[in-house]
Amino acid sequence: MILSQIVAVAKNKVMGINNTLPWDIPEDMKFFREKTKGHVMIMGRKTFDSLGEPLPRRFHIVISSQTNLNYNHPHVEVVPNLEQAIQAAAKRLPEWPQEVFIIGGSGVFEESFPVTNKIYLTLIDKEFSGDVYYPDIPEQFELTEKKQVEGLIPFAFTTWERKQ
Ligand SMILES: NC(=O)c1ccc[n+]([C@@H]2O[C@H](COP(=O)([O-])OP(=O)(O)OC[C@H]3O[C@@H](n4cnc5c(N)ncnc54)[C@H](OP(=O)(O)O)[C@@H]3O)[C@@H](O)[C@H]2O)c1
Repeated sequence: MILSQIVAVAKNKVMGINNTLPWDIPEDMKFFREKTKGHVMIMGRKTFDSLGEPLPRRFHIVISSQTNLNYNHPHVEVVPNLEQAIQAAAKRLPEWPQEVFIIGGSGVFEESFPVTNKIYLTLIDKEFSGDVYYPDIPEQFELTEKKQVEGLIPFAFTTWERKQ
């Protein structure tokens, strides 16, 4: 299994506000959709709620402390912690690709750094107001790719990998 975080972050580390995204960057949404399509995704309960509904052609593993939570959907499974989320993802892998995406939020990103192989980080070249922040990337990761995209809101697609 390859565990990859995928996230978009403002210059001031903001990644969310009022359980939604603070910006509208269609190219980044497209990048997220294309990367995660057909894959298993792990997320916190608030990030899942922020999607509105399960995304097509993806399997959602939702971390929640609520024991009675049931979304009644064939592509959604609720688990009580990150460890069980990874175990649940492993069970799905015979039918899904090896790359499993961790899509947030803040605490799930922080807790999963030690087991993360790769980070797809969209770095937005602007500050936003927000109430959720992306944690500092640990030193064990190095920048391996950067593609600058100009536009109304300039940003860069960056890739971070574990140092050898
Ligand atoms: N910019 C981006 O790329 C990006 C990506 C993802 C999310 N976001 C934004 O970030 C915000 C949501 O993120 P968030 O950090 O507030 O919340 P979150 O991590 O998505 O969800 C938090 C919830 O997840 C559950 N949870 C997380 N860790 C747990 C653990 N170790 N054990 C048990 N339960 C756990 C709990 O659910 P219960 O309360 O049910 O117990 C907790 O309240 C939204 O604004 C969203 O739009 C942005």
